[in-house]
Amino acid sequence: MGTMSELVQALEQVVGKAGLVLDPALMGSYLSDWRNAYRGRAALVVRPGSTEEVASVVRLCHDAGVALVPQGGNTGLCGGSIPDDSGQQVVLSLTRMTRIRNVDPANETITVEAGVILQHLQEAAAEAGRLFPLSLGAEGSCTVGGNLATNAGGTAVLRYGNMRDLTLGLEVVLPDGRIWNGLRGLRKDNTGYDLKHLFIGSEGTLGIITAAVLKLYPAIHSRTTAWVALPSPQAAVELIGRMRALCGDRLTGFELMSRQSVEFVLRHVAGCTDPFAEVHPWYVLIQLSDTLPDAPLAQMLENGLGSAFEAGEALDAVVASSEAQVDALWAIREGISEAQNHEGPSLKHDISVPVSCIPAFVEAADLRLQQAFPGVRIVAYGHVGDGNLHYNISKPTGSDDAPFKAQAEAIMGLIYDVTLEFDGSISAEHGIGQAKREAAHHYKAPLELELMRSLKQALDPTGLMNPGKVL
Ligand code: FAD
Ligand code: MLT
Ligand code: ZN
Repeated sequence: MGTMSELVQALEQVVGKAGLVLDPALMGSYLSDWRNAYRGRAALVVRPGSTEEVASVVRLCHDAGVALVPQGGNTGLCGGSIPDDSGQQVVLSLTRMTRIRNVDPANETITVEAGVILQHLQEAAAEAGRLFPLSLGAEGSCTVGGNLATNAGGTAVLRYGNMRDLTLGLEVVLPDGRIWNGLRGLRKDNTGYDLKHLFIGSEGTLGIITAAVLKLYPAIHSRTTAWVALPSPQAAVELIGRMRALCGDRLTGFELMSRQSVEFVLRHVAGCTDPFAEVHPWYVLIQLSDTLPDAPLAQMLENGLGSAFEAGEALDAVVASSEAQVDALWAIREGISEAQNHEGPSLKHDISVPVSCIPAFVEAADLRLQQAFPGVRIVAYGHVGDGNLHYNISKPTGSDDAPFKAQAEAIMGLIYDVTLEFDGSISAEHGIGQAKREAAHHYKAPLELELMRSLKQALDPTGLMNPGKVL
């Protein structure tokens, strides 16, 4: 084990001067997250440009006993990509690894490096006449490596699954610097434990993902989008069942939003306007898609909504009549995260419960929260077809930040308790990071935690891979 300056010299041999950030004044964007909710310090930031460079960097840090924090686009919401405040950790940024290595339309696969931005991956798939379906608000800056490491979800999981479901193979640099080449584009491979699934969702605690073979799907040639007002989450659950029965896999998006969520967007996101003149308690954004250019989607939507009105599930609806209107409706949905930031400190949640339990979850959590913490603003929205709600909480209007922050633990505990009463999960898509580490210890089964620790010990015995995250 040498000194930090010896490590810096050795790293410079691998990545060159341009691949290192040593000046704390230039490190800012690597040391805090998108919401500025987490801040850390680092000895340096290293930006390797190839898998071999990543392997050398990891080996050098391993031999020097220095901890690594992998980082992609730094859009994660649980502080997983932020170093601690010791100033001793090294941030390993994958943002220079941006190659699309291979597109194989006949195998319906694309092989990309970890630093490829999700939107660029979607564009590369489109150029090949295919669809890469993962879609989320941060797609303009999040990376494939971060999507894999958090098993990202988003708005198309309903039809296509989350990142785990979209992955066939991985290349990973192990904590000791060895390279595991698992870049197989196989849909069938039963040769023992499926190792890629260990790394997907491991939030950088088991190794550095450097590349992946991902699934492609047929391109979409027609879509129809509607914004529907509803009386309750119960109506949303009934409506999604109705639409799915009618449209099958053509139902590709179904996002629920409370009035509070939409109000925040109307207040803070430029260009967003209320699709209705009247105020309604809940809304869903429905999207139907098809590979045929002239699929009868509008007719299907009309049939579904017609019977929903008769059943009292829908109160009002607008169907987008142009691509600009489609974008305008999605802008309201995708604007909620940003809008909530303008309303002061907030507590973000990404809980999941069985879809059938969503209405009872909302009712129970709303009631208990308003009794225990009167005035807090509940910003509930999300991927209702996946049973995944962002049951976020903003401080009461006009109140100081400090009392709200002091109640944060108790508010989160209340929400997690209700989640567990419905056999749910405290994190459906954002992961544990540092934000939910204590909660995971409390809410996960002891045997599950023990098995997770055994895996961590087997793969990262020196504990240098993103320490303090997840476990
Ligand atoms: P980072 O934030 O850089 O890292 C995330 C985690 O992955 C960290 O623990 C990090 O150490 C690890 N990591 C990063 N790269 C690697 C690598 N190559 N190898 C190993 N570990 C690595 N998430 C959803 O699931 N669904 C959503 O709908 C959604 N919407 C969002 C909307 C907004 C506006 C924002 C800001 C975030 C949203 N997210 C959503 C959060 C989501 O997790 C990320 O945006 C994305 O998946 C993280 O990618 P990233 O490249 O930014 O990763
Ligand atoms: C989303 O679905 O918009 C994000 O996952 C939620 C968030 O930013 O909390
Ligand atoms: Zn989400």
